[in-house]
Amino acid sequence: MSDRETWATRLGFVVAAIGSAVGLGNLWQFPFKTATNGGAAFVVFYLAAVVVVGFPAMLAEFVVGRRTNVNAVDAFGELGHRQWRVVGGLAVFTGFWILSYYNVVGGWVIRYIVGSATGAYFADPAAYFGAVSAGPEAVLAQAVFLAIVVGIVALGIEDGIEKATKVMVPSIVVLMVALAAWVATLPGAAEGYAFFLSPDIDAMVANAGTIIPFAVGQAFFTLSLGMAIMITYSSYVGSDDNLVLDGGVVVVTNTLIGVLAGLVVFPILLTIGAEITTESGGAGALFVATAAGFSSVPFGRVFGVVFFGVVLIAALSSAISLLEVSVAYANDNYGLSRPVLAAIVGVGLFLLGLPSAWDTGWLTWFDRFAYQVFLPVSVLALVAFVGWVIGADAIDELRQGTGGLGAVGPLWLWTLRLIVIVAILGTLALGLNEMFLVEGADFFQPF
Ligand code: PHE
Repeated sequence: MSDRETWATRLGFVVAAIGSAVGLGNLWQFPFKTATNGGAAFVVFYLAAVVVVGFPAMLAEFVVGRRTNVNAVDAFGELGHRQWRVVGGLAVFTGFWILSYYNVVGGWVIRYIVGSATGAYFADPAAYFGAVSAGPEAVLAQAVFLAIVVGIVALGIEDGIEKATKVMVPSIVVLMVALAAWVATLPGAAEGYAFFLSPDIDAMVANAGTIIPFAVGQAFFTLSLGMAIMITYSSYVGSDDNLVLDGGVVVVTNTLIGVLAGLVVFPILLTIGAEITTESGGAGALFVATAAGFSSVPFGRVFGVVFFGVVLIAALSSAISLLEVSVAYANDNYGLSRPVLAAIVGVGLFLLGLPSAWDTGWLTWFDRFAYQVFLPVSVLALVAFVGWVIGADAIDELRQGTGGLGAVGPLWLWTLRLIVIVAILGTLALGLNEMFLVEGADFFQPF
């Protein structure tokens, strides 16, 4: 496949991977899950999960992608293990599933930018959310968001994704820092930081069983793992890149932006005294609460536009990575042009997203299934493959471009083989227990 595209520069790959990682997962899910899972206690488990489970798993995806230079499904055949293609298939499916409702939330964000500019939600933030989050208006907004995503991916790796993310990622960082500086002046700032940053150890220990599955799921989601994204992006990388360093930069930047998101969101919420510690309100709670915040502070319109603007940029730079996964697969296998494929996949995504756009209960259900079942299973299968099936060869691939790994290679491999696998199995068990066995849980009753 000599005419296959590549990144123009190494930085292009790193920035695109950061663009993928930094998304609604950081700016919406992370504060929301922190709020509903015990504040700072969740943050501690989450950070641990990122370092111990997420980073090694990301390197595993990188190794598969760069070794084979092919899409995430065929990569397994290329490595001589055709029967493991199902693992790639599961990852592609998981990504498709997630993107279907991600587009819907992307559509909400567009509505919130407009709503901030016009002040449309100022009088009644909850009613505004109800109006834009479900039904025909949400379907329309979902289509607009998706059309932008399809447009960027249609332009290709270098001219589309790389160029777009090189503008998007720096904008996200600059605007988030500016927002964090602004909210520091709000009256609820101190209380917001305390909620976010000072863990209650007793509550942490007592609730570990319910918090850990969410923390691990969040780590996978935010690092864009288990969706074949990192396999696909690294398949366009040359063998002289240092994957360990690149992955480290992605993980650290992504984590810092997540923390920045918390530093922005919680002061706003506590300034208006929003009730954020109870498990209620579902996916929309954060939209309603932040919007309520903007409607009651000076220059709320301006800051609302900037805040939701950043969220939109971040969501777009993630969504393009996920669309690229399916497009790469189709592009490697069928003789259709990239724009046509992007459009076809886009239509499929639109259709699968319709239930989520129609009713937020479905969206929550899709999201939960992704977090607690598809993502952990998908990462588990990939890690088991790299750790136990390719084994030492994986270390060889990881070593390329690093100038020698020393003990880091075997340490990484054994972390994958044992720690990551045990952590995921434990997470799955806890998550399934919570879904099916906890009294009152009725999982197949979506809402
Ligand atoms: N890491 C992304 C995020 O945090 C996850 C994601 C990527 C979701 C691509 C959808 C599409 O938002």
